[in-house]
Amino acid sequence: MKVIIASDHGGFNLKQSIVAKLRENDVDFTDFGPDSDASVDYPDFARPVAEKVAAGEYDRGILICGTGIGMSISANKVKGIRCALVHDTFSARATRAHNNSNILAMGERVIGPGLADDIVDVWLATEYEGGRHERRVCKIEE
Ligand code: RB5
Repeated sequence: MKVIIASDHGGFNLKQSIVAKLRENDVDFTDFGPDSDASVDYPDFARPVAEKVAAGEYDRGILICGTGIGMSISANKVKGIRCALVHDTFSARATRAHNNSNILAMGERVIGPGLADDIVDVWLATEYEGGRHERRVCKIEE
């Protein structure tokens, strides 16, 4: 599985901590930036990441800003993207199993790094269940 991760300045520190964890866990990932906590605009990172996931260059994306909201709104503008804003492990599992979400958004100002790591682990590991959910996911695309 190939993963791409990015943030804005509001999510920079959490991105760095998740990047360290992905590296430790041998996940195949690309850090799309930014490289510092200097102020940037979250759509400038959400859009290219979403486009790369929608194009199949990456299997999954992770986007982090202060709340996760700006990133998730932006990413969901790209056709084929199902970006889930998640701050608990129950939703991380459910959104993979039921929505086949392909981007995970989180907010650095909302949760701490320990919970964020657990959410990433669960979200990356959970398979889409398909079945009755497929009809609903297709309706999103339509
Ligand atoms: C940046 O201050 C902040 O607005 C951004 O990180 C994010 O929370 C937007 O949704």
